[in-house]
Amino acid sequence: MPQTIAVLDFGSQLTQVIARRIRECEVYSKIFHFSTPAAKLREEGVVGIILSGGPQSVYAKTAPHPDPAIFELGVPILGICYGVQLMGHFLGGKVLLSKEREYGHGHLTIKRPGKLFDGLPRKLRIWNSHGDKLTKLPPGFVATAVSENSPFAGIEDVKRRFYGIQFHPEVFHTERGVDMIRNFLVGICGARQDWTTKDFIAHSVAEIRRKVGKSRVILGLSGGVDSSVAAALLHKAIGRQLTCVFVDNGLLRKGERATVESLYRRHFKIDVRVVDASKLFLRRLKGVTEPEQKRKIIGRTFVAVFEKSLRSIGHADFLGQGTLYPDVIESVSIAGNPASLIKTHHNVGGLPARMKLKLIEPLRELFKDEVRQVGAALGLPKEVVWRQPFPGPGLGVRVMGDITAEKLEILRNADAVLQEEMMSSGYYWKVWQSFAVFLPVKTVGVFGDERTYDFVVALRIVESVDAMTADWARLPHDLLRKISSRITNEVRGVSRVVLDISSKPPATIEWE
Ligand code: XMP
Repeated sequence: MPQTIAVLDFGSQLTQVIARRIRECEVYSKIFHFSTPAAKLREEGVVGIILSGGPQSVYAKTAPHPDPAIFELGVPILGICYGVQLMGHFLGGKVLLSKEREYGHGHLTIKRPGKLFDGLPRKLRIWNSHGDKLTKLPPGFVATAVSENSPFAGIEDVKRRFYGIQFHPEVFHTERGVDMIRNFLVGICGARQDWTTKDFIAHSVAEIRRKVGKSRVILGLSGGVDSSVAAALLHKAIGRQLTCVFVDNGLLRKGERATVESLYRRHFKIDVRVVDASKLFLRRLKGVTEPEQKRKIIGRTFVAVFEKSLRSIGHADFLGQGTLYPDVIESVSIAGNPASLIKTHHNVGGLPARMKLKLIEPLRELFKDEVRQVGAALGLPKEVVWRQPFPGPGLGVRVMGDITAEKLEILRNADAVLQEEMMSSGYYWKVWQSFAVFLPVKTVGVFGDERTYDFVVALRIVESVDAMTADWARLPHDLLRKISSRITNEVRGVSRVVLDISSKPPATIEWE
């Protein structure tokens, strides 16, 4: 196993960003609940600890506090923001309670570089986001850096290898922040840089083989990034012991089923069973207009179809899933932490426990960007590794109101034109999502000499970093003109194209 750096989560929105930065330095990191006992951290063999920021004051009644014994473990500790205040509070310093938050850019002047600021310029731009401030150093500590608002922007106790910084090195607005993190990991903790894609794949393949033995694994392949990478990784480890099930729910985009078949079956030689359940889905969705109702029907039908297909495949012991690390982190919900509001409603169904299958989740230690790296290293094409997100209920939530085969066909054709233009202009890779939405509204048009009375298609093209917020993408007018004119000329049944210029919030990315 790689060496671990523990990130104790005190409820900051940035905790996962810290963990990712550590991994960018090729060191393995794991997020732990703030109250994790020191003994557990010792058992895990952690070689260093980072105390994350957090929205609370150390004095608040509900303030998250760590097990004080972590300061006795003998491993280096870096406190970030709230983490510094915890060090002050627990180790004999003083923290000033402040009602106002200091938020935004600041300037750091390094007085004593030491190991943490080794190799960095003396003056750096930094990013602040804190309320309380350290006003008296704990015994054993010296100040290493100052900012315009704090004489203790950086502190250290070299003997105990405790370091603290008041600002956020994990965000890009802090110049050379990643270098500070790397200095802590490598220079101070002496962590091995053994968290690389190649090492991960080798380690993971061995682990899958050990766990699976001679058994069979079934994996539901959706064609999305996560299940595709999980399939490729499992296949590398166990070859024909893996069977993938791809359910055609009739709500797929144009050509999707054919692509999955050619890529996984022909190129990777993976055993993929395609189950055509489109008629069943459409029958169950007939006349249903309410979005939540549609989602529920699609989710339930998927589970039923998947379960039935397992019976025909024969005995298997394991169910593979493309679960990622952010899905398994126990989230710390602390007032003021918007991260605790991340929605869960997107999970389609959940496979019932009665299937009696053991789970195998080869990606559960990875962040999304790491999954993409693993996918690329396993030979998946760019179109899969960097594909845009697509909702589980598929086009079912992009045809407004009731769903019919005719409407789906119109949407599929319009969407295909949009994707073609996005790909050929290169904008597909620059935006978060780009898709068409079918509106069951008829409007008048002219086509040649004839009057038409056809449907409307909306274009939803957004930029986002995490889908929590999004803004409509400002695409060149010429590109939009081309997309619109191609859709109205080439797609039968559409007489008008409109552009969605709503941001999220208040609108969501999908229309239903
Ligand atoms: P909204 O529409 O809530 O979507 O702004 C945020 C992101 O999630 C995707 N999405 C889904 N993904 N199952 C999924 O796997 C779903 O039911 C689902 N609904 C929305 C959406 O495409 C966007 O990227």
